[in-house]
Amino acid sequence: RAVEKPNDSLDGKRVLVTAGPTQEPVDPVRMLTNPSTGTMGFEVAREAARRGADVTLVAGPTSLDTPPGVTRVDVRTTEEMHEAVQSRREEVDLVVMAAAVADYTPKNPSDSKQKKEDGNLVLHLRRTPDILKTLGEHKQPGQTLVGFALETDDGPANARRKIERKNLDWIVLNDPKEEGAGFGTKTNRVTLFHRDGYAEEVPLQSKSQVARILLDRVTASVPEPSG
Ligand code: CTP
Ligand code: CA
Repeated sequence: RAVEKPNDSLDGKRVLVTAGPTQEPVDPVRMLTNPSTGTMGFEVAREAARRGADVTLVAGPTSLDTPPGVTRVDVRTTEEMHEAVQSRREEVDLVVMAAAVADYTPKNPSDSKQKKEDGNLVLHLRRTPDILKTLGEHKQPGQTLVGFALETDDGPANARRKIERKNLDWIVLNDPKEEGAGFGTKTNRVTLFHRDGYAEEVPLQSKSQVARILLDRVTASVPEPSG
């Protein structure tokens, strides 16, 4: 089991991984964000580098250390992550989009701290760019795109819809309601879906092991559809 298969190698491959949350400022002291810690994406970056890939990790705010041999680009907002990713999309063979990207951002963030007032605050939000969908629209020949999907309901159907909508090769389905899975855990329990119909349930295990299985599948030749 510990024996490395030679075809696991990512030697010479250029891999782009995104990880962590994004933060959308309301004002200088307030923001919209989510509980992502970046662990899953950092483990994918670590493992890809261990297998010989040239790895760039575009990271939202996290407290994690950069894995050995990985080039790290720190970003804060979705717009910054979008720019960091799109500027590199033509030079990478594999993209693993593990970041938990904010879907909305305040329409008119304030440069000054807003003083609280009595009663409620109404925020106007606009959609952020869909980074992965943009990659799918500009997919390079031979490029592999891997997304993550966070679903609390109808996971498999929603995950497959995201494969289509974003022109992905693989999607990794997470259910944050599952024990030991989701935000801030050391472990994860995911289902992998390939665009051709292949699906694989990956039992609960460490995020580093999930990263290995993911890269094994992605690196291997495209599996036959299993219906
Ligand atoms: N994603 C992205 N840009 C966004 C939102 C999401 O690149 N603005 C990526 C995520 O990194 C993930 C995939 O798209 O790899 C799916 O994210 P998810 O939040 O599950 O789906 P959404 O398309 O945002 O739809 P919804 O949140 O409504 O389910
Ligand atoms: Ca989303």
